[in-house]
Amino acid sequence: MSRVELADLDFFSPEVQECPFHVYRQLQDEAPIWQVPNANVFVVTRYNDIREIIRDPARFSSSFSALLNTGSTNEEVNAIYAEGYEMVETLLTQDPPRHRVYRNLVNKVFSNKRIEGMRGDIEAIAGELIDLWINDDEVDLLNRFCVPLPIYVIADQLGVPRSELPLIKKWSDASASRLGRLADDKQQIQNAKDIVEFQHYFADLIDQMRGNPQDNIISDLANNTIDDGRLLTKPEALGMIQQILVAGNETSTASIAGGVVLLIQNPDQQVKLREQPELISSAVEEILRLETPTTGMWRRATQDTEIDGVEVPEGSFLMVRFAAGNRDESVFPGGGELKVDRDNADNHLAFGQGAHFCLGAQLARTELQVALTALLQRTDNWGLVSGKNPLTHSPNVLLRGLTDLHISFDKIR
Ligand code: HEM
Repeated sequence: MSRVELADLDFFSPEVQECPFHVYRQLQDEAPIWQVPNANVFVVTRYNDIREIIRDPARFSSSFSALLNTGSTNEEVNAIYAEGYEMVETLLTQDPPRHRVYRNLVNKVFSNKRIEGMRGDIEAIAGELIDLWINDDEVDLLNRFCVPLPIYVIADQLGVPRSELPLIKKWSDASASRLGRLADDKQQIQNAKDIVEFQHYFADLIDQMRGNPQDNIISDLANNTIDDGRLLTKPEALGMIQQILVAGNETSTASIAGGVVLLIQNPDQQVKLREQPELISSAVEEILRLETPTTGMWRRATQDTEIDGVEVPEGSFLMVRFAAGNRDESVFPGGGELKVDRDNADNHLAFGQGAHFCLGAQLARTELQVALTALLQRTDNWGLVSGKNPLTHSPNVLLRGLTDLHISFDKIR
């Protein structure tokens, strides 16, 4: 791939986002802390620089919500949001020490014990989904496996009936699209409608759970207390639920789908994994490293500072590009290749690090291990169905996921 003129690089354009790897490499070589021309935005692509930034919340704040939900220029969009609940900073866009208050609460809700206890349920969900198409010769794997699996898992945990899957998917897509900021006016209006609908649905559910506590995440969020023993306000609870939905669905779907494509494109690695199923944990880390569904995240410089010799003025925004750091050759030699037994794959940055380390990392790892194991055990001879796999990704500057995945296969059992 030819090198681009950095002065002309439109990093956040859909074209670069679709095919970013040569750009990441060039930035790492030539301008690892690259300032977007005429903007107070820096793109950070080297592994060690990204780590330094995300482990130092005092210097690099997560208070970047201005980038996510500045009022739209479209009056209709703003009028729709006015019918919903205000956004408050809880997890992703909150800094320590306040962040810790909310994080402690959700850490309890997402306890290791609860997640380990879910493995059997996730296996059952994977099995039921595969049963629906196992006697066919090909399947729309994205929509009949990768999308529903994490949604069923989270819907069960949120205490939402599985029949509401299309609603959950719609709300999660709308929130992800809003976060990605590449939506046109029509899409923004639809996103606003969907998000406000989501807020009212869960606000009602919170009221129900307050009257009748149950063993699920919404009930815990509705009834656990913070500060001096008060319940969460509705905007606080809704903010967290929304983050759990978006963070947990698109990303897990993208990694299962991307993992299958990687195993198809690297048949020797697929054979190795089939012959040594105990490699599944390291294979999953390697897939997370290469796919990096949360391609990057924002930070804001709280002071004039310097990284890697580059001066970054106070108030600048930094795009820490996890997807680039995860292919940094100085940490992961042959970083563009899949090696299911790579010994340091789990040093990847796909879940971030530090205070904001992904709340759902253990759940996502469990989902991926279960999903890929089930597919490998029950099907063989995977192929990409010709004419149905453009291998393109949804346009989004923060999240990356395939738009389609149709595979052919043979049934094993
Ligand atoms: C493969 C799947 C996933 C990936 C790649 C992923 C990635 C990430 C990353 C990179 C961050 C850190 C953001 C930052 O540093 O600013 C993060 C945070 C977060 N993730 Fe995940 N995630 C995944 C699955 C999940 C799941 C399943 C859930 C919940 C069910 C979840 C919930 C969250 C939440 C709530 C945060 C914010 C945590 C905080 O700010 O304290 N994620 N995730």
